[in-house]
Amino acid sequence: MAEMIVTIDGPAGVGKSTVSRMLAKILDAAFLDTGAMYRALTLAALRKNVDLTDTQKVLEVLEGCEFEFTVADDEMRVAVDGRDVTAAIRVPEVTAAVRHVAAAGLLRDRLVEMQRRFAAGHDRIVTEGRDQGTVAFPDAAFKFFLAADVDERAQRRQIQLEQDGMQADIRQLKADIIKRDASDENRLAGPLAPAEDAVIIDTTHLDVAGVVQEMVDIIKRKTNGADSG
Ligand code: DC
Repeated sequence: MAEMIVTIDGPAGVGKSTVSRMLAKILDAAFLDTGAMYRALTLAALRKNVDLTDTQKVLEVLEGCEFEFTVADDEMRVAVDGRDVTAAIRVPEVTAAVRHVAAAGLLRDRLVEMQRRFAAGHDRIVTEGRDQGTVAFPDAAFKFFLAADVDERAQRRQIQLEQDGMQADIRQLKADIIKRDASDENRLAGPLAPAEDAVIIDTTHLDVAGVVQEMVDIIKRKTNGADSG
């Protein structure tokens, strides 16, 4: 297992990916976007016209395809059976359908195994998702949970989409986020929740650099405390 594991959990649109990527760079760690795993499996199942509510069939897709998650240029590249799907996993159709995969305990167990294998292959990792501090890496030394007002998250999503050349109605974005929060928080397997020992950071009034700085300070304090103790 990696010698340093930093987990970053939190709801949709809170900025986990941006923060995790920056933190990973500072710590010289590999970055794992676990949402991309749920998305990649969802996309692969959709492309095979598999009923996403049929967990056994989706499991067959998981076992029958080759999923690759690699870090290149600070970005996680995702490939299924050798084909790059890094952009394809972000389309709204996948975002809307991914909750079926996320709710299936059997599939979550397999994806958590993949996450642990990823951790075993790197010295240091920053991993982000919903259940990284609670389920995937309960013994991680550094755990964070990011939170932000839903209005702020909807606004951030809108800005991000506009930067990517897409238009979106803020009310629709907010409604989508509320729906995803509810489905993430209320599922039985791996629900969205802070680990008991996670540091909760409210990012509503913080920019990305501010959040990352707070994390670096906490990691340094904890590391130095451990060294001197
Ligand atoms: O972070 P994201 O939007 O890319 O995540 C996509 C979906 O995957 C999201 O609806 C919740 C789910 N997910 C999960 O259940 N557990 C994780 N560790 C990461 C993501």
